Formats: sequence, C-alpha cells, structure tokens
Amino acid sequence: MTEIKASTGPAYARIYSVGSATPSRVIDNEYFLQFIDSSDEWITQRTGIRERRWIGEGENIETLSLEAAGKAIERAGIDRSEIGAVILSTISHYHQTPALAPKLATELGIPDAAAYDVSAACAGFCYGLAQAESIVRSGQAKYVLVIAGETISEITDIHDRGTAFLFGDGAGAVIVGPSETNGIGPVVWGSDGSQEGVIWQTADWHQAVSSGEFPKLGMDGRSVFKWATSFIAQATRKCLDEAGVSPDQLEVFIPHQANDRITDTLLRYLKLPENVVVARSIRHLGNNSAATIPMAMDELLTSGQAKSGQTALIIGFGAGLVYAGQVITLP
Ligand code: ACO
Repeated sequence: MTEIKASTGPAYARIYSVGSATPSRVIDNEYFLQFIDSSDEWITQRTGIRERRWIGEGENIETLSLEAAGKAIERAGIDRSEIGAVILSTISHYHQTPALAPKLATELGIPDAAAYDVSAACAGFCYGLAQAESIVRSGQAKYVLVIAGETISEITDIHDRGTAFLFGDGAGAVIVGPSETNGIGPVVWGSDGSQEGVIWQTADWHQAVSSGEFPKLGMDGRSVFKWATSFIAQATRKCLDEAGVSPDQLEVFIPHQANDRITDTLLRYLKLPENVVVARSIRHLGNNSAATIPMAMDELLTSGQAKSGQTALIIGFGAGLVYAGQVITLP
C-alpha cells in the first residue's frame, strides 16, 4: 500500500482579532407600531430590545461582511496571502450557488483561499469557529477568516407580532491562527431536526415562485424560549466542563442575543459570579443571527468592558434547531 502523507499542524489555535460592521439605519420600537398591535414597553420588557440597525441605501450583506472582515484582517496584522480559508456563516445570502465566501475572499485580496458558506442560523459563528480551529490545527491553512454576515431585515415579516421587532442586520469577523497556548476550547455542538418547524422559512423556491411572495422568517417564539432556557442552559455548562474551566474562572459571557430574559436565565443556571462581563448587545442591535456573537465581542473589547486575554464563554443557537458553543480566550 502506498503511504499517503497526512497533514500536520500546530498544537493549538487562537482568535487573533475581531472586527464588526453595523448598518446605518436605526429602527426604534415605535417604528413597528404602525404594523403590529404592540408597544415600546412590551417589546422592551419582553425582549430587552430598544432599537436595532437595518441596512439602508447602498448597504447589503456584502458591504457589511467586507467591512467587518477588513477590520479583523487589519487588526490581526497578518499578511492576507497567508489566509488559507474563508468561511462565511449566513442565512441571508440569496444565491443557493455560488456561495458568497469566494467572492468576499477575492474582494478582500485573499488569493486562492478555500472559501465556502455555512448555514447554521444563529449558531453559524460558533460552527465556523469550530471548523477554523480544526483547519488551523490540522495544518490545512495557516490563518482562517471566519465572517458572519446577516441582513435578516430583508426576510422579516413586519406584520408578524411574534418576530417583527426581533432582528437586526450586521456582520462580525475573526481571524483564527496558530498559537503556543490553547485559545479555543472543544466545541459543544449538535442539532435536533425533529424541531425544524420551530423556526422556518415561510416558502421554499417553488412556493415563492407560484405565490409571487418573497419568503419570510417564521418562528414559534415560546418553543425557542423553552428550548434555550432548558437544553441550551445545560449545553453552556458542558462547554465549561469540556474546556476544564469552572464558572468562577470565567470573565466574559457572550451568549447568542435572542432575548435578554434568556440571557438572565442562563446566568442564573450557571451561577456566574457578579463580576463576569455579560454581552447585552440585543438592547441596541437586536438579534443579528450568526453575526451576533462576533459583533458583541467586538463591542465589548472596543468599549473597554472586556479585555484581550480574558476567558469567555460563547454559545449560539437557532433554526435547525442547531447549537454550538466554546470557551475562548478573547483576542
Ligand atoms: N406586542 C404586545 N403583546 C404581544 C406581542 C406583541 N408583539 N406578541 C404577543 N403578545 C402578547 C400575547 O398576546 C400574550 O398575551 P396574553 O398573555 O394576554 O395571551 C402575551 O403577550 C405573551 O405572549 P407570548 O407569545 O407568550 O410572548 P413571549 O413572552 O413568549 O414573547 C418572544 C415572545 C419575544 C418572541 C419570545 O418568545 C422570544 O424571545 N422567544 C425566543 C426567540 C428567539 O430566541 N429566537 C432565536 C432564534 S432566531 C434564528 O435562529 C434565526
């Protein structure tokens, strides 16, 4: 039998940098009252959201993704030619093929990178990060660019009382590369396809063509809420256990920003110390789907609320149903 060389790489990987982009239009809760029977008070109390950002003139998933990725590359201080893979996590790109990642790689001046899109909804960033960590550690790329870009406003049904006010647009990106110490813990991830009907697209291509209506996002909010505060709570604990980190060693917690009350429940479940910095970007950005976690991470770091080198727990969960989380060292 002919011997085939195996790929080999560094023992560890870490996140080198993070960047993000928010679109220009600020949409407050009042905006929705012309479409749904609700109130600013109800939306704020039930979700934590006071406002969100939506794309405006000249903004789209490409412009946001390029801005976030450009910042991450610049901050990492690496040579673009050494980025061997580009992963875009998104559910907002309207072409089933080709993927958007190859175009983004070319526009960013990254030559000949492996490039593909990942569809894992609100868990998309953590899925992409898990792949990037494995790619770096197997030596199949020196650096990996993980981008998460979403324009959920385009598939939001503004007449739906249960979802109209939940989502915001934006993008976040990180560079993952080799490290002498470990900066990304084992991923805890999984899926439950029996719950595909909990968050859904209102029409597939055939139905959209015959009805002439652009598909929207539908959601059974109560079921997501229940799942997030029970099953996902247990998964957060598993992320810590797998990484060998105890709750009192954790410095920053960046859960998916689906609802402030979900975050509160996760905090109570984990019994995190008072001084742990907790992401609350939902209050002014809404739920940015896959882009939520890197956007919140960038905001905590640039505002000085969190610091480079701190230990953070991240976890994303959403349509599929799918989830993924890791303990990381902040870039
Ligand atoms: N404004 C005012 N009142 C409302 C509204 C509204 N928009 N919607 C519902 N209500 C009322 C209901 O009629 C009900 O009234 P009643 O008690 O008199 O019957 C009451 O408020 C409670 O209704 P619920 O549907 O139980 O509302 P809930 O507290 O569950 O909040 C929400 C709804 C905010 C959607 C919540 O379920 C939630 O955040 N779920 C999680 C969503 C999520 O995490 N999504 C992430 C995944 S998305 C992805 O993967 C792309």
